[in-house]
Order: sequence, then C-alpha cells, then structure tokens
Amino acid sequence: MMQDTHQLRCTGCARVNAPEDLKDTFRCAECGDLYEVEYPAWSARCGPASAGTADKRNFPNPSALRWLWKERRLSADWKDQSGVWRFRELLPILRDEENIVSLREGNTPLYALPRAARKTGVANLYAKQQGMNPTGSFKDTGMTAALSVARERGFNWVACASTGNTSAAMAAYAARAGMRSLVLIPQGKIAWGKLSQAVDYGALTCQLHTDFDGCVRVLAEIVHRAPIYLLNSVNPYRLEGQKTPALEICEELDWHVPDHVIVPGGNLANSSALGKAFLEMKHLGLTDRLPKISVIQAEGANPLYRSMEASDGRELAQVEAHTRASAIRIGNPASWKKAVRVVHATGGWVEQVTEAEIALAKAEIGAEGIGCEPASAVTLAGLQKLIASRRLDPSERVVLLLTGHTLKDSDYTIHYHRGDLLSAGEIGSLQAEIDATTRNPIELDPDPDQVLRVLDRVAG
Ligand code: F0G
Repeated sequence: MMQDTHQLRCTGCARVNAPEDLKDTFRCAECGDLYEVEYPAWSARCGPASAGTADKRNFPNPSALRWLWKERRLSADWKDQSGVWRFRELLPILRDEENIVSLREGNTPLYALPRAARKTGVANLYAKQQGMNPTGSFKDTGMTAALSVARERGFNWVACASTGNTSAAMAAYAARAGMRSLVLIPQGKIAWGKLSQAVDYGALTCQLHTDFDGCVRVLAEIVHRAPIYLLNSVNPYRLEGQKTPALEICEELDWHVPDHVIVPGGNLANSSALGKAFLEMKHLGLTDRLPKISVIQAEGANPLYRSMEASDGRELAQVEAHTRASAIRIGNPASWKKAVRVVHATGGWVEQVTEAEIALAKAEIGAEGIGCEPASAVTLAGLQKLIASRRLDPSERVVLLLTGHTLKDSDYTIHYHRGDLLSAGEIGSLQAEIDATTRNPIELDPDPDQVLRVLDRVAG
C-alpha cells in the first residue's frame, strides 16, 4: 500500500498548502511562486525554506530501500516494473496505488560514450538515454506521476501547453487512463513526430498562432475557467516522477554518485527535479554527496544563462526564443528559480551553445549508436565548453541526460546530413568537424557494382 503523506510548500514564501487547496494554476495564492512536494516525515531539510525538523528515526533505511528497489526489477507486479513506481517510497503522492497510470516508463539505460570520451578526454562519460521511455522522452516519468494524481482527484480532462514531448506523453497516459486531453502547441514550431503522437493517442490538439510561452498564457486562463487539470511542469507532481532518473543513475553506478550531471534547460523543471532527487538521496543517507548539476541552453533561447551572467540568477528577463532545438525554444521558463537554487546548491554551471555546436554534438551522439533529439545534444556541446573553460575537469565522472529519442525529429537529422540545416555563417570554424560527421544518403541504381564501387571508395 502507498501512504500519502505529502504537503505542498511554496518555494517563494514557504507557505504550506494542503494538496486539496491548490489553485488551478499551481501558483501560490500569496506570492505567485511555484510549489514543491514535501514529505514531513523525512524531507523537511531538503526544501530550501524548510525548518529542518524531521526526526531521523522516521527515515526509511537506506540499505533496505536499495535492496527493495533492486528486487522489484524481478517482480511480475506492473507497479514494480515501472522505473518510476519501483521507487515509490520516495514519491508517496497517491492515496491508492490502484490510481497509478503506467506504461512501464523509466528503467532507461545508462550508456558509456567511448568516442565522445576519447574526444573530450573524459574517461568516465555516460549518457542516460531517456529517449528509451514509452513515448520517446523523459516526460513519461513525470507524466505517470501527475496524471495518476489527476485520476485520483477525479478529473476527466487534462491539458498542457507544449513544445511537443509533454503533449505526446500526456496524450498517451490520458488515453491509457480513459481520460480526455487538450494539447496547446505553437503552430509550425514543433517536430512532426511529436505532433503525430498527440493526434495518434487521441488528444484534442490545438495549434495556436503563437510561441510556447503564448500557449502557456492561454492555458492558464483555460484551466481557470474549466474543470481541467493542468499537467505542465508547474504541476509539482510532475517533478516527483522526474526525480527517478537520478535514482536510477546512482543505482546503475552501484550507488556511486557521479561528479557532474549535465542537463538541457528549457522550462527548467528537469534540472529542478533531478536536483531535488540528489538532495533527497543525500539527506536520507542513500548517497554521501551531491553531483554538480549544470544546465545548458541554446544560445537563442537562453534566459537562464543571461540571468546567471547578469545577476547570478536573482532576476530573469524573458527572451524571444529562437533555436532549431524546438523542444527548448522557451523564453520565459516557469521553474527558473528552482533551477537556480539547484545550480547554486550543487556548484554547477549554466552554459549556452550555438546551433552549429548542437548539430555537431547530435551527430556525435548518433555516431555512438545511441542518437537523441537536438535539445538533448546541448549536453555534449555544453560539456565541451565546460572543459574548454576549465570549469569541468576531465577526471570527473560525467553523466549527460539525453532527454528525447532521435526519431522525435528526423527532419532535423536528415537536413544536417544533407548539409542544408545550417548556414555558412552559423557553421563558422566548425566546418571541418561538421563535414567529417555528415553522412548524406547516396542514391544509386539497383546495381551491385554501383554499391560495391561506393563501398570501395569509403573503405579505401
Ligand atoms: N529536452 C527535451 C527533449 C524536451 O522536450 C524538453 C522540454 C527539455 C529538454 C527541457 O526540459 O523544460 O524541464 O527544462 N520540453 C517541454 C515540452 C517544454 O513541452 O515537451 P525542461
């Protein structure tokens, strides 16, 4: 059985709310800031504004938890087969586990990246491939958590504004639960693969003539006026599910914490969730230290980077976002304050990368036989920048979070390899490196000799 023992604390003014008293927009009635899920029995010292009153005698036993979570991987119970609910002791947000809506998310592989390791000099370099989730992105881990809460609260309709992956995940989980879903996406600004998922899974899909930030504004008004449950990442339950990849990383490294975790930054919920997980694990004695968590943004969608440069994260000015990494084309990120706290608490960095750096890094991850969507590739590009500026030492054990599958945006990949993705101005000094990674599909007649001639040329 699960035990629902949580409360919601405002990350701005520290006011505590009962879960039932939340506003439809998930913003604090007093100060307008976002909430964070807190478990009074054991998490009191994790939240930045909390008093530190938890009694360690109530804490779960770390070795028993590690053993239990591993045992569940062999279980035939569908809850145990989920890489999110396998860790349910750290996300007791439901009253009744029969309300769980799961597609067996999580349990994604942690791959070594030998080629990138050689190029960067980081011998212990790994990629957490979250594209291996049921709908192809990390959003599934958060969606199973928040949509299960929506079901438990009796909602029939759920909704999100999205750059594509959240909407794909929400549409799938809503369909599994027999619920209806409303998707608001920016017209012409998301990858086709993602749009196709939302309609395939049966979401009411509206393409609005605006950007992601405009879709968020419209949706805030809609959930205020209609009984629809908001599933954007302002919903704090999403972040509880998104903690679990951090648990998996530690488990996959035999409970050794990596030195550095590098995450793409869009709406900035993922970096916040991973930070919360690493803080909680250390607090509970599951681990003995924190990794540095660094956030990488695209240069054309870099409000957090600018904020760190201008005010060390005290203020954030919205930007008009432009990047081909459409998943992170976000100018006004909702969870920026949470992300700033994570970067400060862990000693990580915020960096930005250019369009050409993103494209090259994506090709390099593809060449490892793994692949990812453009937004995920900012992590490898960012790693190279952090090394070049000596903020990351190659002796560190580094994990890159690959957030979405390469098939999410195959147009991007094809354009890159055909050589018509980037302009000469964007490519600049990276021309030779980019040329070395492009693999334009070759058109031939159905003639073995022609194929063999090409093979000779390439192999020779
Ligand atoms: N990577 C991918 C593939 C994403 O889809 C997103 C966000 C991010 C990174 C950034 O994560 O927002 O938590 O900082 N996609 C959202 C969406 C906004 O609607 O699918 P974040």
